[in-house]
Amino acid sequence: MKKIFFSFLIVGSLVLVSCKHDIPIDLNGTISQNCHPDTVYFGNTILPLLVSNCAMPGCHNHGELNLTSYASVMNSGIVKPGHPNTSKLVRVINGGGEEAMPPSPYSALTSDQINSIKTWIDQGAKFNSCIGCDTVNYKFAADIWPILNTNCYGCHNNNNPGGNIYIRNYTDVQAMVLDGSLIGSLQGNGYALMPKNSTGLQSCKIIQIQKWINDGAQNN
Ligand code: HEC
Repeated sequence: MKKIFFSFLIVGSLVLVSCKHDIPIDLNGTISQNCHPDTVYFGNTILPLLVSNCAMPGCHNHGELNLTSYASVMNSGIVKPGHPNTSKLVRVINGGGEEAMPPSPYSALTSDQINSIKTWIDQGAKFNSCIGCDTVNYKFAADIWPILNTNCYGCHNNNNPGGNIYIRNYTDVQAMVLDGSLIGSLQGNGYALMPKNSTGLQSCKIIQIQKWINDGAQNN
């Protein structure tokens, strides 16, 4: 018991020290220090996808179907842990059977995003997150775009350009690097804090983006 409490304390203080604002909104589940490549984590991938594609203002951010926290997602009954194929969440994002979600004019999730959600449910729909901040070189296609695609694209694409801002590709991102709005909005410094309706991106992700910018923000 003492040991468990102690490791909780260590992880807790690591998070406090290393992350000014950490994983969006809801960070009470299991937090692993390292990110396992085969695991899909709720805090790192699923919640950001739900916030940017389903819980935009006026949609599922309040009321009966509120997709902004682990508890409210699980209480909604649309996720059956271990059973992606009978989970309503998976049916609607696949556009099958009942209402297709997100509805037009919003963009459908990509097949990679749908697969992440299925895998997370298949792995037991756990309340998990990982920290995994290493200091390798980050590349746009492999590292930076996946972060922006998961956390920003849903609210900043042709069908849903929040604040008339587009985050669709390298050219869009490069312009935001040059005018300072990318880091400014990630830090809530001079710009509204993004992702909207969250307490900010995981600090490790911000560090990755900052490092890529420091290395010349290349289209690599
Ligand atoms: C849930 C929807 C949503 C998500 C997710 C989201 N944004 Fe936004 N964003 C908006 C809206 C709406 C605005 C318009 C300003 C406002 O309402 O605060 C905006 C405005 C902005 C602005 C201009 C802010 C300013 O003060 O001028 C930037 C820059 C921006 N977003 C970048 C991002 C980035 C980078 C991400 C991902 C890390 C992101 N956004 C994720 C909805 C979102």
